[in-house]
Amino acid sequence: MPAAGLGTRFLPATKATPKEMLPVVDKPAIQYVVEEAVTAGLSDVLMVTGRNKRPLEDHFDRNYELEQVLRDKGDAAKLARVEESSDLATMHYVRQGDPRGLGHAVLCAAPHVGDQPFAVLLGDDLIDPRDPLLARMIEVQEQYGGSVIALLEVDPDHIHLYGAAAARPTGDDDVVHVSDLVEKPSAEEAPSNLAIIGRYVLDPGVFEVLRKTRPGRGGEIQLTDALQALASDESLGGPVHGVVFKGRRYDTGDRGDYLRAIVRLACEREDLGPDFRAWLRSYVTEEM
Ligand code: G1P
Repeated sequence: MPAAGLGTRFLPATKATPKEMLPVVDKPAIQYVVEEAVTAGLSDVLMVTGRNKRPLEDHFDRNYELEQVLRDKGDAAKLARVEESSDLATMHYVRQGDPRGLGHAVLCAAPHVGDQPFAVLLGDDLIDPRDPLLARMIEVQEQYGGSVIALLEVDPDHIHLYGAAAARPTGDDDVVHVSDLVEKPSAEEAPSNLAIIGRYVLDPGVFEVLRKTRPGRGGEIQLTDALQALASDESLGGPVHGVVFKGRRYDTGDRGDYLRAIVRLACEREDLGPDFRAWLRSYVTEEM
């Protein structure tokens, strides 16, 4: 999980707090992503972090002092909430050093990953737990080999915010064969309106390609460029397929979308939802 970004869109909140730790309702955004990996059967997590990211390590570690206070108070419910994040997965951390782009962040994971397929999960994308995407991508990777990316149909006006894929159908309804990828193209240049969203299951051959990938868009080493190389030459690491996702995705990388994610998730929560929905309804009808 790449987590070295500065989160400048959320300043000043992110001046001293990693953006991954911003709460979505009452859990840091990154915990949803780790939970998603665990639900898909992945229990070994490597975070690629950077300076000022220590709170991430603390969050997924034990906090004995707090645990003891809650135990002494007999507050089992809160104690469980504290212990939840440290019991989730085996966590590892590596620092990116120079932030040279997403491709570079993924390359930092090479010594940890070794020679097996692995998943990359970007923290800005939250996938609703009721719409499993990663488990399906792992299944598709096992069936087709090579690498698998997650694709979402977006409004053509928004494709410039994403990597875009040229794809053709396969025998599976939700799976496409990817032949071409472009990082953040203009609407005119885009090969389609299929956008890459932040889930990847990759062949380790991508590391060799990333070592040779020159800085691309924004002067950064782009993962999309390495995947484009894989898609155009299968001898580098097998084919590239896409799983076209039709479920619910929340973007927490942008302030407006972050607010929408919180409202939607809060409305759907069993504990908070009924009261919050009632308040929201009256707020919208009476005060707006
Ligand atoms: C990254 C990728 C892009 C992808 C996006 C998904 O961009 O480079 O291809 O579409 O994540 O969220 P970023 O949003 O980090 O600029």
